[in-house]
Amino acid sequence: MKTTARTLMAAGMAAAMTLSGTMAFAADGLPNVTILATGGTIAGTGATSTTTVGYTAAKVGVEKLIEAVPELKKVANVKGEQVFQIASENMTNDHWLKLAKRVNELLAQKDVDGIVITHGTDTIEETAYFLNLTVKSTKPVVIVGAMRPSTAISADGPVNLYNAVTLAGSKDAVGKGVLVALNDQINAGRDVSKTNTSTADTFRTPELGFLGYMQDNRPHFYRQVVRKHTAEAEFDISGLDSLPQVDIVYGYANNNRTALDALVKAGAKGIVHAGVGNGSLSNAMKPGLIEARKQGVAIVRSSRVGNGIVARNGEANDDELDFVASDSLNPQKARILLMLALTKTTDAKAIQKMFYTY
Ligand code: DGL
Repeated sequence: MKTTARTLMAAGMAAAMTLSGTMAFAADGLPNVTILATGGTIAGTGATSTTTVGYTAAKVGVEKLIEAVPELKKVANVKGEQVFQIASENMTNDHWLKLAKRVNELLAQKDVDGIVITHGTDTIEETAYFLNLTVKSTKPVVIVGAMRPSTAISADGPVNLYNAVTLAGSKDAVGKGVLVALNDQINAGRDVSKTNTSTADTFRTPELGFLGYMQDNRPHFYRQVVRKHTAEAEFDISGLDSLPQVDIVYGYANNNRTALDALVKAGAKGIVHAGVGNGSLSNAMKPGLIEARKQGVAIVRSSRVGNGIVARNGEANDDELDFVASDSLNPQKARILLMLALTKTTDAKAIQKMFYTY
C-alpha cells in the first residue's frame, strides 16, 4: 500500500477513534476536561465550619469550585459550565435530558477528552445510570459529589473533585462506562448506590464491588462492567423533550394497592414494584398489577432487598402475567431502564431482553 494511502488511512482511523472516544489531549500533553456543575453538597455552604448537616446545598458556582482546587491545573486543562444549580433530590427527567444532551455535544468535540459532573449525592446513582444508558461516547464521564459542604472542616469536595478530574482525564477510564468517584473509590454507574445517609464512604457497590481506587494521582482498575453501556447502548435521547412516566410502588407486610391504583390512574406508563425478597407480590397488590398490565402499563418486578437477582418466573409467573423481572437492578435503577425502554417499545419480552443486556 502506497505511503500516501497508508497515511490517509491512519489519519482517518485516528479521527474516527477520536470521535468514538480515544482522547486527543492538548499540545501541553494535558487532557481537556469540562466540569458540568449541577449543585449538591459539593457546592453547599453551612453556617459554621462544623455544620455537616442542616447546611444549604447548591450555593457555590462552578468557577469557585474550580478556584478552590488550584491543583486541577496540574492534571488537566479545565473548563466549567453551570448546567443548573439544584439539590439533587429535585432532579427531574428534564434535568437529565438537558444534561445528557450537553454531555453528548461536548464529547463529540475533538477538544474535549472527558467530562466531570458535580452533583448532589442523593440521586447521583440515578443520574449515573441514566447517563450510562444515554451517553454516545466511550470518553470518560465521571460523576462526583461530597458528603460535607465546602465550608466544613475537612470538606471532601475539593479532593473528590481533584480525583474526578484526574480520572476523567485518564486513558484508563476510556470505555469503562459512567463512573462515580468519591472517597478515593471508583464505582460503576450501573451498580453504585448511596448506602449511608451521611458518611464520606457512602457510595458502595455492595456485593459486586468497586471497579478500583484513586491513589497517587491516578486510577487503579481491578474489574469492569460486562453489561452494555454508553456508546453500545441503543437509547437515543437527542430528539426527546420528555420521558414516559414510570413510578415505583413499595412492597411491605400488610401493604395495599391504593398507591398503585392512583399512579395508574394518573397516567403512569410503567410501574416498578419494589417487592419483598425475590420480588414477591402480596395477594393485596398482585390483582392491581395484573389489571394495570391489562391496561397496557408495563410492570417490572424488582426488589427492596438491594442485592441479588430477581428471577423471571420465580415469585410470579411473568410469562403468564406479561411482567418483566428486573434481574439485578434495584427499583430506582429499574425505573430508569424501563423509562428508556418505553421510548422504544411496550413489548414486555423486548423489555425483558433489555434488562438482561444493560
Ligand atoms: N440535598 C442533597 C443533594 O443535593 C445533599 C446531599 C449531598 O449532595 O451530599 O443530593
